[in-house]
Amino acid sequence: MIVNAEKSVNPESDLLALREALHQRLDQLLPVVDEQDRVSAAMRAGTLAPGRRIRPLLLLLAAHDLGCDRHHPGLLDFACAIEMIHAASLMLDDIPCMDNALLRRGRPTIHRQFGQHVTILAAVALLSNAFGLVASARDLPTGCRAQAVAELSGAVGLQGLVQGQFQDLSEGHAPRSSEDIARTNDLKTSMLFDAALQMAALAAGASPEVRQKLRCFAQDLGQAFQLLDDLADSHASTGKDANQDEGKSTLVALLGAEAVQQRLRSHLHSADQHVTLACRHGAATRHFMHSWFESQLAAFG
Ligand code: IPE
Ligand code: IPE
Ligand code: MG
Ligand code: MG
Ligand code: MG
Repeated sequence: MIVNAEKSVNPESDLLALREALHQRLDQLLPVVDEQDRVSAAMRAGTLAPGRRIRPLLLLLAAHDLGCDRHHPGLLDFACAIEMIHAASLMLDDIPCMDNALLRRGRPTIHRQFGQHVTILAAVALLSNAFGLVASARDLPTGCRAQAVAELSGAVGLQGLVQGQFQDLSEGHAPRSSEDIARTNDLKTSMLFDAALQMAALAAGASPEVRQKLRCFAQDLGQAFQLLDDLADSHASTGKDANQDEGKSTLVALLGAEAVQQRLRSHLHSADQHVTLACRHGAATRHFMHSWFESQLAAFG
Protein backbone atom coordinates (compact mmCIF):
# COMPACT_ATOMS: atom_id res chain seq x y z
CA MET A 1 0.00 0.00 0.00
CA ILE A 2 1.15 3.56 -0.70
CA VAL A 3 1.10 5.33 2.62
CA ASN A 4 -0.07 8.89 3.09
CA ALA A 5 1.83 11.02 5.58
CA GLU A 6 -0.40 14.07 5.22
CA LYS A 7 -3.91 13.53 6.60
CA SER A 8 -5.83 16.73 6.10
CA VAL A 9 -7.25 17.99 2.81
CA ASN A 10 -8.36 21.53 2.06
CA PRO A 11 -11.23 20.56 -0.23
CA GLU A 12 -11.30 23.50 -2.67
CA SER A 13 -7.60 24.14 -3.21
CA ASP A 14 -6.88 20.42 -3.17
CA LEU A 15 -9.42 19.74 -5.90
CA LEU A 16 -7.91 22.46 -8.05
CA ALA A 17 -4.46 20.96 -7.58
CA LEU A 18 -5.70 17.45 -8.40
CA ARG A 19 -7.53 18.69 -11.52
CA GLU A 20 -4.38 20.46 -12.67
CA ALA A 21 -2.24 17.37 -12.02
CA LEU A 22 -4.68 15.26 -14.06
CA HIS A 23 -4.63 17.75 -16.91
CA GLN A 24 -0.85 17.93 -17.00
CA ARG A 25 -0.40 14.17 -16.95
CA LEU A 26 -3.03 13.65 -19.67
CA ASP A 27 -1.33 16.33 -21.74
CA GLN A 28 1.98 14.50 -21.33
CA LEU A 29 0.45 11.10 -22.13
CA LEU A 30 -1.21 12.33 -25.32
CA PRO A 31 1.52 14.34 -27.07
CA VAL A 32 1.12 16.06 -30.43
CA VAL A 33 3.76 14.26 -32.42
CA ASP A 34 2.84 15.47 -35.89
CA GLU A 35 0.25 18.13 -36.79
CA GLN A 36 -0.89 15.91 -39.70
CA ASP A 37 -1.73 13.04 -37.36
CA ARG A 38 -5.49 13.49 -37.15
CA VAL A 39 -6.04 10.46 -34.92
CA SER A 40 -3.76 11.66 -32.14
CA ALA A 41 -5.20 15.19 -32.47
CA ALA A 42 -8.71 13.72 -31.99
CA MET A 43 -7.51 11.72 -28.96
CA ARG A 44 -6.19 14.91 -27.40
CA ALA A 45 -9.24 16.98 -28.29
CA GLY A 46 -11.64 14.40 -26.82
CA THR A 47 -9.69 13.85 -23.62
CA LEU A 48 -8.29 17.30 -22.81
CA ALA A 49 -11.57 19.17 -23.48
CA PRO A 50 -12.91 20.63 -20.23
CA GLY A 51 -14.74 17.68 -18.66
CA ARG A 52 -15.59 17.67 -14.97
CA ARG A 53 -13.19 14.79 -14.23
CA ILE A 54 -15.51 13.28 -11.63
CA ARG A 55 -14.30 9.68 -12.08
CA PRO A 56 -10.54 10.29 -11.77
CA LEU A 57 -11.12 12.71 -8.86
CA LEU A 58 -13.18 10.09 -7.06
CA LEU A 59 -10.40 7.56 -7.59
CA LEU A 60 -7.82 9.90 -6.06
CA LEU A 61 -10.03 11.01 -3.15
CA ALA A 62 -11.17 7.48 -2.28
CA ALA A 63 -7.52 6.38 -2.33
CA HIS A 64 -6.73 9.25 0.04
CA ASP A 65 -9.54 8.17 2.38
CA LEU A 66 -8.15 4.62 2.28
CA GLY A 67 -4.79 5.94 3.51
CA CYS A 68 -2.84 6.52 0.27
CA ASP A 69 -0.89 9.54 -0.89
CA ARG A 70 -3.35 11.02 -3.40
CA HIS A 71 -0.46 12.53 -5.39
CA HIS A 72 1.26 9.14 -5.88
CA PRO A 73 2.33 8.89 -9.57
CA GLY A 74 0.85 5.42 -10.04
CA LEU A 75 -2.53 6.57 -8.74
CA LEU A 76 -2.40 9.51 -11.13
CA ASP A 77 -1.76 7.05 -13.98
CA PHE A 78 -4.75 4.94 -12.88
CA ALA A 79 -6.89 8.09 -12.74
CA CYS A 80 -5.76 9.23 -16.24
CA ALA A 81 -6.56 5.78 -17.64
CA ILE A 82 -10.11 6.06 -16.29
CA GLU A 83 -10.51 9.48 -17.89
CA MET A 84 -9.21 8.20 -21.24
CA ILE A 85 -11.75 5.39 -21.19
CA HIS A 86 -14.51 7.82 -20.27
CA ALA A 87 -13.46 10.20 -23.06
CA ALA A 88 -13.47 7.32 -25.58
CA SER A 89 -16.96 6.30 -24.43
CA LEU A 90 -18.22 9.87 -24.96
CA MET A 91 -16.66 10.15 -28.43
CA LEU A 92 -18.39 6.91 -29.47
CA ASP A 93 -21.65 7.82 -27.70
CA ASP A 94 -21.86 11.02 -29.78
CA ILE A 95 -21.37 9.60 -33.29
CA PRO A 96 -24.38 9.61 -35.64
CA CYS A 97 -25.18 5.88 -35.33
CA MET A 98 -25.35 6.24 -31.53
CA ASP A 99 -26.72 9.47 -29.97
CA ASN A 100 -25.92 11.70 -32.96
CA ALA A 101 -24.85 14.63 -30.77
CA LEU A 102 -23.55 17.99 -31.97
CA LEU A 103 -22.04 19.41 -28.79
CA ARG A 104 -19.84 17.97 -26.06
CA ARG A 105 -18.06 19.83 -23.27
CA GLY A 106 -19.15 23.11 -24.88
CA ARG A 107 -17.47 22.28 -28.20
CA PRO A 108 -18.47 20.60 -31.47
CA THR A 109 -18.40 16.83 -30.99
CA ILE A 110 -15.22 15.06 -32.07
CA HIS A 111 -16.75 13.53 -35.21
CA ARG A 112 -17.84 17.05 -36.27
CA GLN A 113 -14.26 18.24 -35.85
CA PHE A 114 -12.42 15.21 -37.23
CA GLY A 115 -14.94 12.98 -39.08
CA GLN A 116 -16.39 9.65 -38.03
CA HIS A 117 -13.63 7.28 -39.06
CA VAL A 118 -10.99 9.32 -37.22
CA THR A 119 -13.23 9.47 -34.13
CA ILE A 120 -13.76 5.71 -34.01
CA LEU A 121 -10.05 5.03 -34.45
CA ALA A 122 -9.13 7.64 -31.82
CA ALA A 123 -11.55 6.04 -29.34
CA VAL A 124 -10.06 2.58 -29.96
CA ALA A 125 -6.54 4.00 -29.52
CA LEU A 126 -7.57 5.73 -26.28
CA LEU A 127 -8.93 2.46 -24.90
CA SER A 128 -5.73 0.71 -25.85
CA ASN A 129 -3.59 3.48 -24.30
CA ALA A 130 -5.61 3.30 -21.11
CA PHE A 131 -5.03 -0.43 -20.61
CA GLY A 132 -1.33 0.00 -21.37
CA LEU A 133 -1.11 2.82 -18.86
CA VAL A 134 -2.71 0.78 -16.08
CA ALA A 135 -0.41 -2.15 -16.82
CA SER A 136 2.64 0.12 -16.53
CA ALA A 137 1.45 2.56 -13.82
CA ARG A 138 4.44 4.06 -12.02
CA ASP A 139 5.71 2.67 -8.69
CA LEU A 140 2.91 0.21 -8.08
CA PRO A 141 3.37 -3.55 -7.52
CA THR A 142 2.91 -5.84 -10.55
CA GLY A 143 0.03 -7.74 -8.91
CA CYS A 144 -1.86 -4.52 -8.20
CA ARG A 145 -1.48 -3.37 -11.81
CA ALA A 146 -2.59 -6.75 -13.19
CA GLN A 147 -5.70 -6.79 -10.98
CA ALA A 148 -6.49 -3.23 -12.01
CA VAL A 149 -6.32 -4.22 -15.70
CA ALA A 150 -8.77 -7.06 -14.99
CA GLU A 151 -11.17 -4.71 -13.14
CA LEU A 152 -11.12 -2.23 -15.96
CA SER A 153 -11.57 -4.87 -18.61
CA GLY A 154 -14.69 -6.16 -16.83
CA ALA A 155 -16.15 -2.66 -16.54
CA VAL A 156 -15.61 -1.73 -20.18
CA GLY A 157 -16.40 -5.00 -21.95
CA LEU A 158 -19.41 -7.02 -22.97
CA GLN A 159 -20.73 -7.30 -19.43
CA GLY A 160 -20.10 -3.61 -18.69
CA LEU A 161 -20.16 -0.31 -20.58
CA VAL A 162 -20.51 -2.00 -23.98
CA GLN A 163 -23.58 -3.93 -22.83
CA GLY A 164 -25.08 -0.83 -21.18
CA GLN A 165 -24.62 1.24 -24.30
CA PHE A 166 -26.08 -1.55 -26.46
CA GLN A 167 -29.16 -1.83 -24.22
CA ASP A 168 -29.57 1.94 -24.14
CA LEU A 169 -29.49 2.18 -27.94
CA SER A 170 -31.55 -0.92 -28.71
CA GLU A 171 -34.22 -0.59 -25.99
CA GLY A 172 -34.15 3.09 -25.03
CA HIS A 173 -36.75 4.20 -27.55
CA ALA A 174 -39.37 1.64 -26.51
CA PRO A 175 -41.25 1.66 -23.18
CA ARG A 176 -39.16 0.10 -20.40
CA SER A 177 -39.83 -0.73 -16.74
CA SER A 178 -37.99 1.31 -14.11
CA GLU A 179 -36.06 -1.85 -13.20
CA ASP A 180 -34.86 -2.28 -16.78
CA ILE A 181 -33.79 1.37 -16.99
CA ALA A 182 -31.90 1.10 -13.69
CA ARG A 183 -30.16 -2.08 -14.89
CA THR A 184 -28.99 -0.34 -18.07
CA ASN A 185 -27.83 2.71 -16.09
CA ASP A 186 -25.88 0.41 -13.81
CA LEU A 187 -24.00 -1.05 -16.79
CA LYS A 188 -23.45 2.14 -18.76
CA THR A 189 -22.60 4.43 -15.84
CA SER A 190 -22.05 2.73 -12.45
CA MET A 191 -19.56 0.18 -13.73
CA LEU A 192 -16.90 2.73 -14.65
CA PHE A 193 -17.32 4.41 -11.26
CA ASP A 194 -16.87 0.97 -9.73
CA ALA A 195 -13.69 0.29 -11.70
CA ALA A 196 -12.26 3.67 -10.58
CA LEU A 197 -12.99 2.90 -6.93
CA GLN A 198 -11.72 -0.68 -7.16
CA MET A 199 -8.46 0.63 -8.62
CA ALA A 200 -8.14 3.01 -5.65
CA ALA A 201 -8.78 0.06 -3.32
CA LEU A 202 -6.19 -2.10 -5.09
CA ALA A 203 -3.55 0.62 -4.77
CA ALA A 204 -4.41 0.94 -1.08
CA GLY A 205 -4.28 -2.82 -0.50
CA ALA A 206 -7.87 -2.75 0.82
CA SER A 207 -9.61 -5.89 2.12
CA PRO A 208 -12.33 -7.79 0.17
CA GLU A 209 -14.90 -6.41 2.65
CA VAL A 210 -13.90 -2.82 1.89
CA ARG A 211 -13.95 -3.53 -1.83
CA GLN A 212 -17.46 -4.94 -1.55
CA LYS A 213 -18.68 -1.81 0.24
CA LEU A 214 -17.08 0.30 -2.48
CA ARG A 215 -18.98 -1.69 -5.10
CA CYS A 216 -22.25 -0.81 -3.34
CA PHE A 217 -21.11 2.83 -3.13
CA ALA A 218 -20.35 2.89 -6.87
CA GLN A 219 -23.71 1.38 -7.74
CA ASP A 220 -25.65 4.07 -5.85
CA LEU A 221 -23.35 6.83 -7.02
CA GLY A 222 -23.64 5.81 -10.68
CA GLN A 223 -27.44 5.62 -10.44
CA ALA A 224 -27.54 9.09 -8.84
CA PHE A 225 -25.16 10.40 -11.48
CA GLN A 226 -27.18 9.11 -14.45
CA LEU A 227 -30.42 10.47 -12.91
CA LEU A 228 -28.79 13.88 -12.62
CA ASP A 229 -27.63 13.64 -16.24
CA ASP A 230 -31.20 12.80 -17.31
CA LEU A 231 -32.62 15.69 -15.23
CA ALA A 232 -30.12 18.09 -16.83
CA ASP A 233 -31.07 17.02 -20.37
CA SER A 234 -33.61 19.81 -20.90
CA HIS A 235 -31.18 22.55 -19.77
CA ALA A 236 -29.19 24.66 -22.19
CA SER A 237 -26.06 25.18 -20.09
CA THR A 238 -24.63 21.66 -19.91
CA GLY A 239 -22.21 22.07 -22.82
CA LYS A 240 -24.19 19.29 -24.59
CA ASP A 241 -27.23 19.31 -26.91
CA ALA A 242 -30.39 20.16 -24.97
CA ASN A 243 -33.30 17.69 -25.20
CA GLN A 244 -31.10 14.90 -26.53
CA ASP A 245 -33.29 12.40 -24.64
CA GLU A 246 -36.57 13.39 -26.34
CA GLY A 247 -38.55 10.23 -27.10
CA LYS A 248 -36.29 8.14 -24.88
CA SER A 249 -37.59 6.02 -21.99
CA THR A 250 -35.55 7.53 -19.16
CA LEU A 251 -36.69 7.50 -15.55
CA VAL A 252 -37.43 11.23 -15.90
CA ALA A 253 -39.86 10.45 -18.76
CA LEU A 254 -41.40 7.54 -16.83
CA LEU A 255 -41.69 8.98 -13.32
CA GLY A 256 -41.33 12.75 -13.70
CA ALA A 257 -38.61 15.11 -12.46
CA GLU A 258 -39.83 15.35 -8.86
CA ALA A 259 -39.90 11.59 -8.27
CA VAL A 260 -36.48 11.30 -9.92
CA GLN A 261 -35.04 13.95 -7.59
CA GLN A 262 -36.32 11.97 -4.60
CA ARG A 263 -34.88 8.78 -6.01
CA LEU A 264 -31.56 10.52 -6.65
CA ARG A 265 -31.40 11.75 -3.04
CA SER A 266 -32.15 8.30 -1.74
CA HIS A 267 -29.26 6.86 -3.84
CA LEU A 268 -26.98 9.59 -2.46
CA HIS A 269 -27.99 8.75 1.11
CA SER A 270 -27.27 5.09 0.54
CA ALA A 271 -23.98 5.92 -1.25
CA ASP A 272 -22.96 8.00 1.76
CA GLN A 273 -23.56 5.10 4.14
CA HIS A 274 -21.54 2.68 2.02
CA VAL A 275 -18.53 4.98 1.60
CA THR A 276 -18.55 5.91 5.29
CA LEU A 277 -18.17 2.22 6.16
CA ALA A 278 -15.67 1.53 3.37
CA CYS A 279 -13.18 4.37 3.76
CA ARG A 280 -12.51 5.19 7.42
CA HIS A 281 -15.39 7.74 7.40
CA GLY A 282 -14.57 8.69 3.79
CA ALA A 283 -14.30 12.39 4.64
CA ALA A 284 -12.71 13.64 1.39
CA THR A 285 -14.86 11.44 -0.88
CA ARG A 286 -18.07 12.32 0.95
CA HIS A 287 -17.36 16.03 0.97
CA PHE A 288 -16.64 15.96 -2.76
CA MET A 289 -19.73 13.89 -3.59
CA HIS A 290 -22.13 16.02 -1.54
CA SER A 291 -20.83 19.40 -2.67
CA TRP A 292 -20.73 18.25 -6.31
CA PHE A 293 -24.33 16.97 -6.29
CA GLU A 294 -25.65 19.98 -4.33
CA SER A 295 -24.17 22.41 -6.85
CA GLN A 296 -25.45 20.37 -9.81
CA LEU A 297 -28.93 19.96 -8.30
CA ALA A 298 -29.09 23.71 -7.64
CA ALA A 299 -28.42 24.25 -11.36
CA PHE A 300 -30.41 21.39 -12.91
CA GLY A 301 -32.63 19.76 -10.27
C1 IPE B 1 -21.34 12.02 -19.22
O1 IPE B 1 -20.38 12.01 -18.22
C2 IPE B 1 -21.79 10.61 -19.49
C3 IPE B 1 -22.66 10.03 -18.46
C4 IPE B 1 -22.38 8.90 -17.90
C5 IPE B 1 -23.88 10.68 -18.09
P1 IPE B 1 -19.91 13.35 -17.48
O2 IPE B 1 -21.13 14.12 -17.09
O3 IPE B 1 -18.99 12.96 -16.39
O4 IPE B 1 -19.16 14.12 -18.63
P2 IPE B 1 -17.88 15.10 -18.54
O5 IPE B 1 -16.70 14.21 -18.35
O6 IPE B 1 -18.09 16.06 -17.40
O7 IPE B 1 -17.88 15.77 -19.88
C1 IPE C 1 -23.98 7.98 -21.00
O1 IPE C 1 -25.28 8.22 -21.30
C2 IPE C 1 -23.42 6.98 -21.91
C3 IPE C 1 -22.00 6.62 -21.76
C4 IPE C 1 -21.57 5.81 -20.88
C5 IPE C 1 -21.07 7.18 -22.72
P1 IPE C 1 -25.74 9.50 -22.15
O2 IPE C 1 -25.82 9.21 -23.59
O3 IPE C 1 -26.96 10.01 -21.48
O4 IPE C 1 -24.54 10.52 -21.89
P2 IPE C 1 -24.53 12.01 -22.44
O5 IPE C 1 -25.80 12.69 -21.94
O6 IPE C 1 -24.48 11.94 -23.92
O7 IPE C 1 -23.31 12.61 -21.81
MG1 MG D 1 -26.00 7.65 -24.88
MG1 MG E 1 -25.30 10.68 -25.23
MG1 MG F 1 -27.47 12.03 -21.14
